[in-house]
Amino acid sequence: MSAKTPKNLAVFVSGTGSNFEAMLKEHIPIKLVVADRPCKAIDRAKEVGIPTALIERKNFGTSFDRGLYTQKILEVLQTHGIDLVAMAGFMTILGDSLFTTYDGYILNTHPSLLPLFKGDHAVKDALEARAKETGCTIHIATADLDDGPILAQRSVPILPNDSIETLHERIKIEERKLYPEVLKNILVGNLVLPQTVV
Ligand code: GRF
Repeated sequence: MSAKTPKNLAVFVSGTGSNFEAMLKEHIPIKLVVADRPCKAIDRAKEVGIPTALIERKNFGTSFDRGLYTQKILEVLQTHGIDLVAMAGFMTILGDSLFTTYDGYILNTHPSLLPLFKGDHAVKDALEARAKETGCTIHIATADLDDGPILAQRSVPILPNDSIETLHERIKIEERKLYPEVLKNILVGNLVLPQTVV
């Protein structure tokens, strides 16, 4: 099967949604916004009239049923005919079934120059490692956290007086330029993703 250009994008959010806002500003066509909790980003999606799905995660403990939660997400995506997912600060790790069904068509932005500083504390870890620079990475998300093929990166210097907040904000300035650019290229067929939707 040859690669096809995806058309129906869903953006996954949990928080502020400044990356989502940057996509809106760049007129990225977004068919659905999915959130795992009430948040500013989903309120903003409603405000601009984009369909939303709040699939609320109530359990943050060890008994969280990741498989069932992922199944609910898959059902919503399929109801809306989604063929491309962009994670933008989504804070729940999803189960394998999502990555199998949408193999190669789930994107993520991560606040480091992957493969350096994977995980939740990427900005803090870069500061603590006394790195001279860090940055952001747009990559294909796989079942292995922050590990899929890299599509684009931008580096950002680490300044002597940086705090986690100042450094993260400087990284996010780059993410907000790079993520919409990558999405635009995928949606017009200039950037062909490596795999097809099953
Ligand atoms: C971004 O820095 C992204 O890399 C990380 O979460 C942050 C989301 O920020 N995964 P926002 O909600 O888009 O402002």
